Amino acid sequence: MAEHSPKKVVLITGASAGIGKAIVTKMLQEGWTVYGAARRLNQMEDLKQAGAKTLFIDVTDEASMAKAVDAILEAEGRLDALVNNAGYGSYGALEDVPVDEARRQFEVNVFGLMRLTQLVLPTMRAARSGTIINISSMGGRIWMPIGGWYHATKHALEVLSDALRMEVEPFGVNVVVVQPGAIESEWSGISADNLEASSKNSVYRFFTEPMARILRGYTSAAKPSVIADAVATALRVKKPRRRYRAPFDAKLYVRLHWLFPDSVWEMILKSRIRSTDKQVKTGKQEVHG
Ligand SMILES: NC(=O)c1ccc[n+]([C@@H]2O[C@H](COP(=O)([O-])OP(=O)(O)OC[C@H]3O[C@@H](n4cnc5c(N)ncnc54)[C@H](OP(=O)(O)O)[C@@H]3O)[C@@H](O)[C@H]2O)c1
Repeated sequence: MAEHSPKKVVLITGASAGIGKAIVTKMLQEGWTVYGAARRLNQMEDLKQAGAKTLFIDVTDEASMAKAVDAILEAEGRLDALVNNAGYGSYGALEDVPVDEARRQFEVNVFGLMRLTQLVLPTMRAARSGTIINISSMGGRIWMPIGGWYHATKHALEVLSDALRMEVEPFGVNVVVVQPGAIESEWSGISADNLEASSKNSVYRFFTEPMARILRGYTSAAKPSVIADAVATALRVKKPRRRYRAPFDAKLYVRLHWLFPDSVWEMILKSRIRSTDKQVKTGKQEVHG
């Protein structure tokens, strides 16, 4: 193993787009040695130019994760933080989404993430320091129809993060959950593609069509830098908060869900879906959750 690098080292998954790319850029500005990982290496050329190191990781392929972690430890002799950001939205009515697709959704958003976490923990425990940051979603606290499997993965991630936090705290390792609201990225287009693929002959068109339009019209979401700022804040302090939520819509929806009984929450959702769809159709969209 190499001599310890003088700079702190972070591995960020899902670095080829959206939030991950913004986190890589931010952590370079913070003076860290930054490893960005994803399947599309060519989409990370700009990050390489900016000073990041890039690696191939498919979070459904254990060998690629083990190889990446070994390469970092070999080159740097340390790994101070892991940002588990890779993920996607599998949308569609629960009756329509093939169970194999639901399994893939869990494989990427939950099992792959947890396997990578297992691979870095021995190094962090031995150093008696380190931070795991899991990019969840406001969708890890709230839920919507047509996003059932996606929300299920993010709810699972919330619970796993809480259990893990208590397990690794005695070893000096922090676990932080970040809950983004609506953010500009490739996420909504990919979610809309998945929704349309599973809804071709759907009897749930009264929900799937407005949801597809809303996902396609996801134009007034916040910049990914708001999430990168939250991650940087968590990595700057010795004792980070358990959860960071941004931008304002994430704080608002999570609070509303907490305040109201399920019956009222369902009414709020129905009215938000109707009004956001109307805004998308007329080109006057507000941020949607
Ligand atoms: N955008 C939002 O509104 C929003 C809101 C709440 C939470 N989030 C969460 O934020 C995280 C980042 O999403 P984003 O908005 O930045 O979406 P994005 O622009 O679609 O980026 C997703 C990233 O995940 C990577 N990825 C997907 N499948 C992968 C796999 N099997 N193995 C390795 N990497 C994989 C993609 O890279 P490759 O395709 O190159 O592998 C890409 O870099 C996700 O966990 C998402 O659920 C997003």
